[in-house]
Amino acid sequence: MPAPRTAPATPAATSPATPAPAAAPPAAAARPGAWADGLSDVSIAGDPLAWPHLAPPERARPTTVSAFAALAGRIAADRARWEPLVDYDPVTRWYHRLEVGEGYEVWLLSWLPGQGSGAHDHGASSGILTVLAGELTERTAAGPRRLGPGCRRVVAPGYVHEIVNAAMEPAVSLHVYFPGLREMTPYPAVAATPAATPDEEIARAGRVRSVAGSARPPRGG
Ligand SMILES: [Fe+2]
Repeated sequence: MPAPRTAPATPAATSPATPAPAAAPPAAAARPGAWADGLSDVSIAGDPLAWPHLAPPERARPTTVSAFAALAGRIAADRARWEPLVDYDPVTRWYHRLEVGEGYEVWLLSWLPGQGSGAHDHGASSGILTVLAGELTERTAAGPRRLGPGCRRVVAPGYVHEIVNAAMEPAVSLHVYFPGLREMTPYPAVAATPAATPDEEIARAGRVRSVAGSARPPRGG
């Protein structure tokens, strides 16, 4: 007679493992950024990254030549903004700082007939010159260039030129400098100076450094 069957024992090995209890969280004071009572800036005010509309707007600072040229173009087109400010000084060029932005500045200059900048560079600054009214002449070692209303010149650090109002009418110009103009080096009159060799340029650059740190503009052109 066969032995009665018995129910097989439940194999313990096939039952799902009971998950181990989660480790107790560290004490609140031990978590970076947590307060002693367990709260944190995020738990109180919410995750700041989840509310991008609350972030301050990005500053629209120009970063390229074209963007700075566009800035100059917008100001030039806004005649009601700059024209009432223009004045003329028979003794020296008149100038007015029209705008200061992040790392750049914008100057408004007037030029009576015969007034000029003298030959100069712009230190470490790049610049954009725009003629707003009248006519200016730019003199470089390559020769003179007439700049009528709307004409624009982009100058790089180390670029040497001279700006003069050689016409018989007053002129107005707009100058954007980035970084802001802090120094410039005067040079002998460009018209009387033949194209310089690199050694001559270096020797000239070692001459007078002017108006570094001055509240007055270096009065470049
Ligand atoms: Fe200049």
